[in-house]
Amino acid sequence: MTEQSPHGRGRTKPARRHGPRIALAAVTTGAVAAVSLIALSGTAHAASTLGASAAAGGRYFGTAVAANHLGEASYAATLDAEFNAVTPENEMKWDAVEASRNTFTFSAADQIVGHAQSKGMKIRGHTLVWYSQLPSWVSSLNATDLKSAMDNHITQVMRHYKGEIYAWDVANEAFQDGGSGARRSSPFQDKLGDGYMEEAFRTARAADPDAKLCYNDYNIDGVNAKSNAVYAMVKDFKARGVPIDCVGLQGHFNSQSPVPGDYQQNLQRFADLGVDVQITELDVAGSGTAQANSYSTVVNACLAVSRCTGMTVWGITDKYSWRSGDTPLLFDGNYAKKAAYTAVLTALGGSDSGGTSAGTTNGGTSAGTTNGGTSTGTTNGGTTNGGATGGGTPPAGQGCTAAFRLVSAWTGGYQVEVSVLNSGSGALSGWTTAWTQPSGQTIANLWNAVQGTSDGRTTAHNAAYNGQLAVGASTTFGYVVNGGPPPTSLTIDCQSA
Ligand code: G3I
Repeated sequence: MTEQSPHGRGRTKPARRHGPRIALAAVTTGAVAAVSLIALSGTAHAASTLGASAAAGGRYFGTAVAANHLGEASYAATLDAEFNAVTPENEMKWDAVEASRNTFTFSAADQIVGHAQSKGMKIRGHTLVWYSQLPSWVSSLNATDLKSAMDNHITQVMRHYKGEIYAWDVANEAFQDGGSGARRSSPFQDKLGDGYMEEAFRTARAADPDAKLCYNDYNIDGVNAKSNAVYAMVKDFKARGVPIDCVGLQGHFNSQSPVPGDYQQNLQRFADLGVDVQITELDVAGSGTAQANSYSTVVNACLAVSRCTGMTVWGITDKYSWRSGDTPLLFDGNYAKKAAYTAVLTALGGSDSGGTSAGTTNGGTSAGTTNGGTSTGTTNGGTTNGGATGGGTPPAGQGCTAAFRLVSAWTGGYQVEVSVLNSGSGALSGWTTAWTQPSGQTIANLWNAVQGTSDGRTTAHNAAYNGQLAVGASTTFGYVVNGGPPPTSLTIDCQSA
């Protein structure tokens, strides 16, 4: 059966509506049977992958997935071997599915859903109502129109995937950081008031009664003012019969924001309200033992809370992480298993078979160059510390190198990825790149860095979250160009800050 979106983009759906759920149940049952066998004969082995180990305990272990990497063999192989759940990293967000009002584009999200279904994986939907990645047409609506656009968005997207999504992040990041416990300013909050949240959850329940409906946020991992505010909202919803089934705790950790000491207690207090909890976007900046220990703490906390139904890491490989300079994931840029991987597998009760998913096993740290992507174009090294970006002489030992990669090209435009490598002998706290943009070609959009100009050249310096690079570590930023043809190579100078 082919379901057509309202605008003709189709996706072949499995004939069985609840295919993924049945398939997962089969996996789980198989895993449970294997555990029983251990008790009976003592000859069976512990599961050797993240997904199978989690399934043995009745949970899922998932990852965020980007549709444009599915064609990369190592990416897909690692996904398929290790994980039993996926969350589209960007493809289900408002700007991706409804860039223009009431025109829905599901092709990229469908690609991920189709892949997951073919492998029997659970799917988390991310996300329906969020202040970010929101098209400008939404922000410009008046209150009445905005409510109707929000309800329509929720309804159309959830109906498209009706029966296929395990849990939806109905609302994302709606509370402020800090001690106020207040709601974050957003078009929804500012024009519709607190009631928009309840409206969103009620609309979501009507659109797909089988999907679990979650509220998802970051910095709510421990007991603090922000998590207290979310807790109060969930408690109020449960008391008044507003449909809510789960709270997603994102779990983006680093040295400034480590796994809190009361993490398990916080998971448990939400669960005690009568909702499931899920770790939805786990990643931990760092490397080696410290990183591995943080991962174990998170997994052990989830396993200790019966209503913690699963964990999702926010990406497979460090090289495609939204903060790749922090090397926060379980596989390095070459898909080698890191110490953090082994820690998670062990905490889940699994045992490494000694084999590899796609790369080589690497128990150590994962810093290094991460240039193993699917290059459809040309890669060339840039120059180190080319002085064209200004800013004076960098401290001794500090240096960086930038490399250009053509990701894709089309008539009238192309996309570039630039990797920035700390090629010096000291840690970097910031970097600036500079290049000469081909004449007549303009940058339409640049991400994961801050664009500027200097001496007639285009510059890009680190974003707030990817300036710090350990020796040998790298990060990437990207941009889209209007105009063509794309250069076959481009010299990009790099200077440390
Ligand atoms: O790849 C496209 C390119 O084809 C397109 O032309 C260009 C135009 O904007 O965008 C490129 O996409 C970028 C995308 O990352 C892929 O790298 C987007 O600009 C960029 O905004 C996007 O960043 C995402 C970020 O959310 C946006 O807020 C990250 O990938 C994604 O990991 C991150 O995920 C969020 C969760 O949704 C919510 N919680 C925090 C988490 C981390 O920030």
